[in-house]
Amino acid sequence: MPESAARITIEKAGSHAGELVEIAGWLYNLRKSGKIAFPLLRDGTGILQCVAVKSSLDEAVFESLRNLTQESSLIVRGRIRAEPRAPGGYELDVEGAEVVQRVPEATPYPITPKDHGTDFLMDHRHLWLRSKRQHAIIRVRHEVIRAIREYFDTNGFTLVDTPIFTPAACEGTTTLFEVDYFNDEKVYLTQSGQLYNEANAMAFGKVYCFGPTFRAEKSKTRRHLTEFWMVEPEMAYATLDDVKQVAEELIVFVVGRVLENRRVELEALERDVSKLECVKAPFPRISYDEAVETLRKKGSAIEWGGDFGGTDETLLSEDYDRPVMVDRYPSQIKAFYFQPDPVRPELALGVDVLAPEGYGEVIGGGQRIHDLELLEKRLDEHNLPREAFEWYLDLRRYGSVPHGGFGMGVERFVAWMCGLEHIRETIAYPRMLYRIRP
Ligand code: 4AD
Ligand code: MG
Repeated sequence: MPESAARITIEKAGSHAGELVEIAGWLYNLRKSGKIAFPLLRDGTGILQCVAVKSSLDEAVFESLRNLTQESSLIVRGRIRAEPRAPGGYELDVEGAEVVQRVPEATPYPITPKDHGTDFLMDHRHLWLRSKRQHAIIRVRHEVIRAIREYFDTNGFTLVDTPIFTPAACEGTTTLFEVDYFNDEKVYLTQSGQLYNEANAMAFGKVYCFGPTFRAEKSKTRRHLTEFWMVEPEMAYATLDDVKQVAEELIVFVVGRVLENRRVELEALERDVSKLECVKAPFPRISYDEAVETLRKKGSAIEWGGDFGGTDETLLSEDYDRPVMVDRYPSQIKAFYFQPDPVRPELALGVDVLAPEGYGEVIGGGQRIHDLELLEKRLDEHNLPREAFEWYLDLRRYGSVPHGGFGMGVERFVAWMCGLEHIRETIAYPRMLYRIRP
């Protein structure tokens, strides 16, 4: 009876050295001569070089491998052998193979090793995901998300997810996507789960929500998507300082996990990991006032009272090897819900965390207004419809307490971890001003 071959994944090849195994995957690349072929097999967990020798294989099997086209699907049987020169440290000596679907010559796989240009690759995003670099990015993303959840799950936060269809604006009315709901009612795709998070924090103490959020941003920057994932913690009985501490702990924890578990991927991305190794507490903390002063010294045209642009954020972060926390922005450039500073009420008790290396704002948050009258005044000043916020005002009527939280954008964070030029590669199917397909 022939020796049976266990189905394994390439990621685990190292623990099967010397064994007969079976791997199911796709042809990534092929080098060949008349007597030997080296199919590079990928299976979603990694890439493995296989060695098919004509003289030791069935003629038909050897020919089918030798003539295989890129991205054809196949199942290979063979023995794993340690090979220090091979990427990953192992190879597979082919003993048998079955082609599942051969990509016809007439319709070859569109993405070849040559340079393709971003638009072409974006149009073929459903296939581009198979390439080594995209694979590495999405695996880092998964690690980031897993670490975020672990941080909150093990630090006393209850997950309470918030709705996507919402009747009210959270982050200003200019970036709302409107949806036709039933009976001609207009609702919006959520910009942030924060308002509901505040209600949930009054019920559970410490909560977080984690889901897709939407902004009708007409800006074409390398940091903006119209659909992005945001994790948002919210805590009852919390001040701005508590918010900053959680933000700092979260970032340090998540960066640590990426460094611990995604070395191979960071290497594939040629990420300078020494930059990430600097991300340790405490982070520098500066005020908006200080930030404006620094920016003006560096030649920025910013005036006190203005918001920072992407270039300003980059200028600010270049002085530090780790994220910098900027707090107390003028209330006039912030959302309606920020608690004012007790000493200088024209300032908001809010904080933005700017990532190093020019990756910009990865976290925004702060302390919320807990006083009913002040909140009512702010809703009026921002021309927000009172009836849509009645339930939110209830939180200030029934046991109101100081509270706060923040939002961290997953894609900005992943772009930073991976060292990417543009945010569009951090999510499988990016949604942007000019990109809604595939
Ligand atoms: O600063 P933002 O707008 O804050 C809020 O939405 C608060 N309600 C969150 C809260 O306090 N619960 O957004 C938070 C973060 C930003 O720091 C950024 O990382 C990300 O969300 N973000 C975006 N990411 C990609 N594309 C966009 N258009 C983004 N807008 C914000
Ligand atoms: Mg912000």
